[in-house]
Amino acid sequence: MRHLLGIEGWRRDELIALLDRALAHLPGGPDASHTLRGRVVANLFFEDSTRTRSSFEVAARGLGADVLNWGLVGSSASKGETLLDTARNIEALGPAVIVIRNRASGAPHLVARHVRCAVVNAGDGAHEHPSQALLDAFTLRRRWGSLDGRTVLIVGDVQHSRVARSNLLCLTALGARVVLCGPPTLIPPGLEEMGGEVTHRLDEVLPQADAVMCLRLQTERMGEAFLPSTREYARLFGLNAARAERMKPEALVLHPGPINRGVELAPGVADGPRSVILEQVANGVAVRRAILEVCAS
Ligand code: NCD
Repeated sequence: MRHLLGIEGWRRDELIALLDRALAHLPGGPDASHTLRGRVVANLFFEDSTRTRSSFEVAARGLGADVLNWGLVGSSASKGETLLDTARNIEALGPAVIVIRNRASGAPHLVARHVRCAVVNAGDGAHEHPSQALLDAFTLRRRWGSLDGRTVLIVGDVQHSRVARSNLLCLTALGARVVLCGPPTLIPPGLEEMGGEVTHRLDEVLPQADAVMCLRLQTERMGEAFLPSTREYARLFGLNAARAERMKPEALVLHPGPINRGVELAPGVADGPRSVILEQVANGVAVRRAILEVCAS
């Protein structure tokens, strides 16, 4: 049994083994519906989610598991129960894995120290979102074979993005060069120490990128004014049609979703030939099956 609390703590060979295992879970692969038969996967999502929660649910059902779901509304968290009490009570139901999304950074780590089953972090505040980074890396590996020597440009609200942090760790571990770009107020210190390069000039680095990952402005996490206006942001950092034309001919566009169309990404680019955004979603199921398998075994 193993937790997946972050990309931090996973070695390159372990990440590659997990991504290789996910290949067998693509549609048309061998039947895996016995793997977690009779076992329970508990989804504890105390923050909104469209993709991640349903992706874990589809993945768990594909492995034959029973799935239980809790949200902030509909669980006793709304009656004042602490996260630890909720988690311990869910643990008493005997799940193989608890999948947790929480507004607080470190929440899954806290739960993991107090329960005996595996814990998977499905996004903790602005900290990590490891399954998203793994499905992003999986999508790029399927396109490229290897990430070694490739340049991935991450553009947007890095400050508040758990996706950016997990991807920086994951992509550099797999051999890619990662450049992070955004307005100075949305780029936190310390990214170079984590292996990234930082720039505030999108148009200068854009032609170097083999893939561009656009991030949403996480306005729900912005306590104060980080930006003059979203229109100004779109003008300086939005991936519009003109910018997409200056990318390498084969370069890809990724986005973890949800997209704010016309802000970080123009609709024509989101739906255009460079976009692998829906591939990311489809690949997410195979990657999460592999994660649940590894963590539950
Ligand atoms: C992201 C998240 O929730 O961290 N979405 C996702 O899980 N696919 C990114 C976001 O909310 O912008």
